[in-house]
Order: sequence, then structure tokens, then C-alpha cells
Amino acid sequence: MSPKQGKIVTSREMPTRTGYEMMRSPMRALPKQNIADLARWGFERDDVIPLWFGESDLVTPSFISDAAGRALAAGHTFYTHQRGIPELRAALSAYMSGLYRKPVAVERITATSGGMAGILMSMEILLQPGDNVVVVEPVWPNIQGAIHIMGGVKRSVGMEPGNDGWRLDLRKVEAACDRHTRAVFLASPGNPTGWMITAEQQRALLDLARSRGFWIVSDEVYTRLVYDRPVAPSFLDIAGDEDPVIVINSFSKSWAMTGWRVGWLTHPVSIGDTLAQVVQYNTSGTATFIQHAAVAAITEGEGFVAEMRARCQAGRDIACDALERMRRVRLPARPAGGMYVFFEVEGMTDSLAMCGRIFERTGVGLAPGSAFAEGCDNYLRACIALSPEKLRDAMKRIAPLLS
Ligand SMILES: Cc1ncc(COP(=O)(O)O)c(C=O)c1O
Repeated sequence: MSPKQGKIVTSREMPTRTGYEMMRSPMRALPKQNIADLARWGFERDDVIPLWFGESDLVTPSFISDAAGRALAAGHTFYTHQRGIPELRAALSAYMSGLYRKPVAVERITATSGGMAGILMSMEILLQPGDNVVVVEPVWPNIQGAIHIMGGVKRSVGMEPGNDGWRLDLRKVEAACDRHTRAVFLASPGNPTGWMITAEQQRALLDLARSRGFWIVSDEVYTRLVYDRPVAPSFLDIAGDEDPVIVINSFSKSWAMTGWRVGWLTHPVSIGDTLAQVVQYNTSGTATFIQHAAVAAITEGEGFVAEMRARCQAGRDIACDALERMRRVRLPARPAGGMYVFFEVEGMTDSLAMCGRIFERTGVGLAPGSAFAEGCDNYLRACIALSPEKLRDAMKRIAPLLS
């Protein structure tokens, strides 16, 4: 029964539309992030080896947790600076300046509640409904959700797997850009592929962004998890202070802090004041005591970062050695960075169903290729940041299903 026009609806009458129907339209069609969904299977059993998420099995090191405890005990429990406490921004500025051997000013740094918040806020400041973002894929799917929430459109540019790893053809990026393009988004080192952009490609992309007037949103959360160099090529190596570049970083991966929800953006000085307001309206700032812990991570954490890198490298080799022996598996190449191996399974056409089957029979949780790009239903992703024992056990368990 629909209310007659002008009639006052009383609480005894049924609403004509559900809450779901009354949400704005992008929210009713929000893309599903099925990696998080999969992990719910794990609640049911206790023999699970969770390789579906991008996190290690190491608890955050005590020098970081202790710093959080000390901050709480010292009463750091109040609202604080929107863009981050001065100690954290200063520490990040010094860290970034050291890493890239050039000054990265404090005014270019904004603390966020994790890399994901950095991605969403970047889209909030860049996109109007109907604008598009060119996204280099396969990629962690959450960028798609952030674009969608803002009423934007994702334009996918697919990379190709080759014998020496995944390859990006920049001509495809250029062809995908039009006058509604507000940004190119790429994650390097990549999730799930471990792909790394080269310095030449960065230069060409930055030239294109400058000349066409769009942004580069560079997700560099795995930048320290590289195996043949100390740090991955960064857009910060080449970008000037006011270039249209936002770099996303996170404490989650290299410092084993996935549950803390803290990260940072590096951006032109000129958008800093706006970002302060955007933080205000999103989260009103990252938890104060967690920011104090982040200072400890950044100033005392180099030893731990090296440990995490070595753990991932060992994990990569254990996983790749085992996968290469499985008859149905094809690996483009050993990834040179990141936290994952992304491998093809011959004859597989439904990666989600395969994840379900593997999990049911072995307790090993993998992520489906379909989550990362269209046309990747023949791929599976495994996290390599777990202990060598767990990874060996996981590979032993899945081998019969992939051989
Ligand atoms: C490429 C990429 N960017 C960002 C994130 C988000 O990290 P955070 O935990 O800081 O939100 C992830 C997490 O898996 C990721 O893989």
C-alpha cells in the first residue's frame, strides 16, 4: 500500500521502501570484496593456514606495542591534530627524506587510518560523479570500491604475464585516458602480482599526467618488501613538490601492524589544508596513542623491516619451489617484491569455487584470481609472509589438488 500524496504516514503504517532501497544508488551496487568474505570460512575450523590475506603471522613487535602502552599510560587519549601528531609527521618526513635521498617536507605528509583510508580519501578529493580512474590490473580490489563510492568509473588496463613477470604496456594506459580521467591508479610492488614499475615507466607516466592534467595515485604500501634492492622505485624519486602525485603508504605490511589501522599520504603541499578537512570529516584523525606507536615503528623499526623482508623472500622461495613442482601450476616468474605469489592453474575456470574446494579439503585459505581482475579466474593468490613451517605445510596440503 503506497501512502496517498499529502497524507501523513504514521508509525503504524509500513514504510513503502526498505532502508536498502533508500540508500543512494552506488551503495546498492557496491562491489563485493570476496577475500574478506572467504576468511569467514576459517571461523569454523581450527586447522586453517590462512594465506588469503596480506598479512604475516607475526604479532606486532613489542617495541611498537610498548610505545602504544606508554602513550596510553601517559594520557594520550584525546582528540589530536587532524593530519597527525607533529612527532609522527616529523618522523615520517625524516624517514622518507632518507629513503629517497631528497627532502620530503613535513607539509607533504598526512597520517591516515591505514592505506585503505588513504585510498578512499584520495578518491574523495579527486572524483566527481562520472569521472574515471585508469587502474592498472590485476590489483587489490579495494580501489574499485573507493572509485565506486564516489560515483566514479574504473577503466581497467590489464597487464600481461610473461616469462620474466608481469608487463605493463604504457600505450594501453595512454589509450585508456580521456578528458574525464582524473587519475591513474597503480600499486607497485603490486598486489597480487609483485609487479614493479620501472623508473623509465614512471617518468613517462608522470610526463603524461603533467601534460594531460590528471593525477597519479601510487599505492606503495609494499615498497620496503622488495628482494633485490632496498626500496622499490617510487614516484617520489622523480616527482617535484607540486607534481600531481599522491603516494599511499601503510604501517600494516612492513611493520606487522594490519590491525592498528595507520598509514600516511605524501602529496603536494597545496592540498594539505584540504586533506586536514577531509580527515576531519572521515575519521577526525588517527587514534592518538597509535600514532605514538607509529613513531616507534618508523624510528626504531629498520631491524624488523629487514626481518619481514627476509621472511617474505624465504616464503616466496618455499612457495615457488613447491608450486613449480605441481603439474597444473604455472608461475609467470618469481615476484621481486610484495607479499604474494600469484599463479595460474591449468584447466581452472572458477577460482572462487577452487578456493572453496581447496579450503574444504585442506584447510588452506587462498584468494581467488577473479578478485583482482576480469579474466583472472585461472589464477590463485597465496600470501608468502607466514612462517616457513606453515608455508611448507600449506604447500604439502594443496599439492595433490594441483598436481
Ligand atoms: C595494494 C594495497 N594497498 C593498500 C592496502 C591497505 O592496507 P591497510 O591495511 O593499510 O589499509 C593493501 C592491503 O592489503 C594492499 O594490498
